[in-house]
Amino acid sequence: MTKAEFSSFTDYYEYPQEKMKKRSAEFYVEMKRRRTVRQFSNRPVPREIIDDCLKTAATAPSGANMQPWSFVVVTDAVLKRQIRKEAEKTEREFYGKSASRQWVENLKPLGTNEHKPFLEVAPYLIVIFAQRYGLLPDGNKKSHYYVNESVGIATGMLIAAVHHAGLVCLTYTPSKMNFLNQVLSRPSNEKPFLLLVVGYPAKDTVVPEIAKKSLKDVAKFF
Ligand SMILES: Cc1cc2nc3c(=O)[nH]c(=O)nc-3n(C[C@H](O)[C@H](O)[C@H](O)COP(=O)(O)O)c2cc1C
Repeated sequence: MTKAEFSSFTDYYEYPQEKMKKRSAEFYVEMKRRRTVRQFSNRPVPREIIDDCLKTAATAPSGANMQPWSFVVVTDAVLKRQIRKEAEKTEREFYGKSASRQWVENLKPLGTNEHKPFLEVAPYLIVIFAQRYGLLPDGNKKSHYYVNESVGIATGMLIAAVHHAGLVCLTYTPSKMNFLNQVLSRPSNEKPFLLLVVGYPAKDTVVPEIAKKSLKDVAKFF
């Protein structure tokens, strides 16, 4: 059995309360400016920025610290074209027949459709895979816990890091995602979780006019 070892928590330091208030308010103002973008520029983004955003995501908490995620970064034009082709195939099926009428109705204000040109235009596609279980060097399985929660949190931190860096992203979920295992040669313990399209917005990008719920609608204090 592995023994627990502890070291003092020197990474924590307490801000004076006024500073805390300022920091939390400023962070809110910054995060409020984040929007999902669906029109991307092909302008290159330095790899270093993406590396740092991924390192931020990889600091996320996870069930029993299993870190059950893999981030597969695609910049190769041939792979991007293949991903677009497969994604548009599944989207044609979704918009054409498999989606409920209600779902298509709910998507209307966002103006989405089966065409996904951004998959070839944006400089980075980050495909996030959730590891349903881990694999030990001897091939045996290792249990992972709260996989969806953990990968969701890491993804949220990645989105925040991308925004904080000054880039934009789209959380894209093709209606069927299994093709990503084949295209990106991922092992069977990994399940595609989400595809994050990252880059600069295209010139004259537009975003849908949507509203966020207010604090009183999302939080209750007892
Ligand atoms: C789990 C998840 C899946 C999403 N899937 C898609 C998608 O497949 N296509 C798309 O255009 N937007 C997708 N979105 C983006 C949402 O439509 C968007 O976040 C929402 O409309 C709110 O807009 P905002 O991000 O600008 O605040 C997804 C977002 C989340 C969190």
